[in-house]
Amino acid sequence: MTAPVRAIVIGAGCRGEGYSVFALIHPERMKVVAVADPRKFARTRLKQQHQIDNENVFEDWQTVADREKFADAVLICTPDRLHKDPAVAFAKKGYHILLEKPLATTAEDCRAIVEACVQSNVMLSVGHVLRYDPVICKIKELIDAGVVGDVVHIQHLEPVGFYHFAHSFVRGNWRNEAESSFALLAKSCHDIDLIHHWAGARRCVKVSSFGSVSHFTKEHQPKGAGDRCLDCPIEKDCPYSACKIYLDRVKQGHTGWPVSVICPSSFPDIESVTEALRTGPYGRCVYKCDNDVCSNQVVNMEFEGGLTAAFSMVAFTEEICQRKTTIYGSKGEMSCDGHEICVFDFLTQKSTKLTVKLDVPGHFGKGGHGAADYHLIDAFISAVANNDPSRIRCDSEDTLMSHLLVFEAERSRLESRVVFCGDSQK
Ligand SMILES: NC(=O)c1ccc[n+]([C@@H]2O[C@H](COP(=O)([O-])OP(=O)(O)OC[C@H]3O[C@@H](n4cnc5c(N)ncnc54)[C@H](O)[C@@H]3O)[C@@H](O)[C@H]2O)c1
Repeated sequence: MTAPVRAIVIGAGCRGEGYSVFALIHPERMKVVAVADPRKFARTRLKQQHQIDNENVFEDWQTVADREKFADAVLICTPDRLHKDPAVAFAKKGYHILLEKPLATTAEDCRAIVEACVQSNVMLSVGHVLRYDPVICKIKELIDAGVVGDVVHIQHLEPVGFYHFAHSFVRGNWRNEAESSFALLAKSCHDIDLIHHWAGARRCVKVSSFGSVSHFTKEHQPKGAGDRCLDCPIEKDCPYSACKIYLDRVKQGHTGWPVSVICPSSFPDIESVTEALRTGPYGRCVYKCDNDVCSNQVVNMEFEGGLTAAFSMVAFTEEICQRKTTIYGSKGEMSCDGHEICVFDFLTQKSTKLTVKLDVPGHFGKGGHGAADYHLIDAFISAVANNDPSRIRCDSEDTLMSHLLVFEAERSRLESRVVFCGDSQK
């Protein structure tokens, strides 16, 4: 295919807008030809950025799916509970799909999506961005090259970050399981997927998990705290104060994440952020929200052949999502702090440090998981343009396997028992 890949953005929020920037950087490879979003502000912003024709601006994904196919691919970036229906509908229409993670919020829906894509013979790429992170790719390459010998144990930590957790999982979109999904799925499906990836062809046989909501509960509300940070008399002493997280940032000229998320109908400035804190969900006291997702969770896994893995997710950290991993093998130990990889060889007793080039163009290079986002959309567009699914680094089956492991782990936590993987399907 020599013409640019024609893509439709379904859900023009953070992720949908972010991926679309690829078309502005590489107009010869991708063109955003349509957008669907019920939020006027979001769809108009995308329409203007990509000069989308009026007749291709929609308020809902369903209207797009009802039309004759008019593009090559869809980027489905809707909220977690709105993945399955559009994914199945667009697969049936013959669109190649980039679907944000998680695939869906139940194992059954995850299977239905993969089945629909296989039956319609369309490519499915899931937003497992870490699979495209150059550091993560290097770790896999080193494992496969036998640098640490046989992998015996994987230890992996996801530090969510104290204010990130308060923003997304106490006040924000992923705070309540019934509205979005449980924390292990919403936040850590990336990490369970990585462990599954590093374990190679070995299947997970047993899993156990513990976790709960700590600290962000009514019982922990300090004496005298107000309902909203703007009029809370003890706000100055609270590290989770919305005034600190949003208002102080916008006052310093910072309008990116997390400030950008809290004004759904306008660009963030001091007035709109103040208004959002006065009336919206992000101004609420963190001890008086309707949050119920775990703030700390551990998952232990045993894979075929005896490989064990231990994963921890914790809210209360300085680092924001800078994962820390150590992989213990028969010939050496490899650790990574998210930036640098260090390999200790048992035979030579020497350590080698490796860094990986992370530069990516434009907006994608500006921190966060920008480099990984860039490589994911790059690979997807390239797969569609060349009709070559092998360019997608996480195929449907693989994605389904790692999602099913997340559901098994959560089942273990809920039922307080070791889960033998695959038992639920028997
Ligand atoms: N891969 C990653 O690392 C990563 C990171 C963050 C979020 N996510 C996932 O990406 C998805 C989107 O997250 P986000 O942060 O962009 O959220 P967001 O709220 O910023 O964007 C979602 C958009 O979907 C729109 N929408 C709602 N109903 C719709 C409908 N019927 N038709 C079309 N659009 C509709 C909303 O109006 C909103 O603009 C979520 O599933 C989330 O879990 C993935």
